[in-house]
Amino acid sequence: MIDLRSDTVTRPTPGMLEAMMRAPVGDDVFKEDPTANALQERVAALFGMEAGLFVPSGTMGNQLCVNLLTRPGDEVILDKTAHIFNYESAAAPVLSGVQLHTLPGERGILTPELIESGFRAHNDWDPRTSVIALENTTNKGGGACYTRENLTAIRRLADAKGVAVHIDGARIWNAHVATGIPLAFFGTIADTISVCFSKGLGAPVGSMVLCGKDRLRDAYRRRKQWGGGMRQVGLLAAAADYALDHHLPLLADDHRRARQLAEALAANPDYEIDPAGVETNIVLFDVRDGDVDGTLARFREKGVGMTRFGPRTIRAVFHHLVGDADLERVIQMLNVEISP
Ligand SMILES: Cc1ncc(COP(=O)(O)O)c(C=O)c1O
Repeated sequence: MIDLRSDTVTRPTPGMLEAMMRAPVGDDVFKEDPTANALQERVAALFGMEAGLFVPSGTMGNQLCVNLLTRPGDEVILDKTAHIFNYESAAAPVLSGVQLHTLPGERGILTPELIESGFRAHNDWDPRTSVIALENTTNKGGGACYTRENLTAIRRLADAKGVAVHIDGARIWNAHVATGIPLAFFGTIADTISVCFSKGLGAPVGSMVLCGKDRLRDAYRRRKQWGGGMRQVGLLAAAADYALDHHLPLLADDHRRARQLAEALAANPDYEIDPAGVETNIVLFDVRDGDVDGTLARFREKGVGMTRFGPRTIRAVFHHLVGDADLERVIQMLNVEISP
């Protein structure tokens, strides 16, 4: 199957497996895994952040950051499409006792004006706003990226209000490649960032929390408390390290292919999409007759996997295991499919 359901479906390549097998490892709960330690230093340096902590998943990364930045009863401002709000099993209220205040951004992107409208007054009965959480790129928003100007303005607002900024950077690598914004710039905007190696980068497992040294002790403690302290984790860190070397440079091709698919869909009367909105590796399109399940089933019969993403919407996500020949097959399938 040409699997466009998600960029999380990749399997390790022979080169990645070899790097994993060769990795020197140790007990990471004792902080003795040289490969994990080196990766943490490498990624923290890429973002110009003081510290990195390898965690099993993007969900744990986000939740750990929310926990580091809040006290129970606080409020986190975020877009209504945010992963933290929609797809993390209500972890923020459960694990950190915080309330999530969602705002209606454009394709998951917030602006300072909109964020400002979400701040509360300072009465005893108001929740205390303590974090602005941004998602870059946006998943449910279709892979949209924050601009440098918008991020700068949001940081300025956060400073004026005395609140922290968290970036859910599960796909921040895609944002970096698509916009040309250096990774280190994101480190100047955020107090915490969580990045994933298991999405477009194609590692089998793993994410990382990036933060200041002052928060690292708490981050270690919380990770252990939540069951995320792992032992010879260098096996996984090696895969992430390999992905940075070998797969990060491939993301631009994923973005090009996503745009090509969007153009083919736009030319087809059965579907609705504005190709200009496809900035990275995620393609969201509507089915004109509204039969999402029927369309997905037909695609599946022809060997193409995509996912339902709304009552009329389908999502296709590109990754390094889908090449130009695969894209060509998908486009041919769409052309044959056109309704009479
Ligand atoms: C934007 C975003 N944040 C966080 C996550 C969570 O990552 P994980 O599945 O590793 O918990 C995802 C997963 O797809 C995501 O798309």
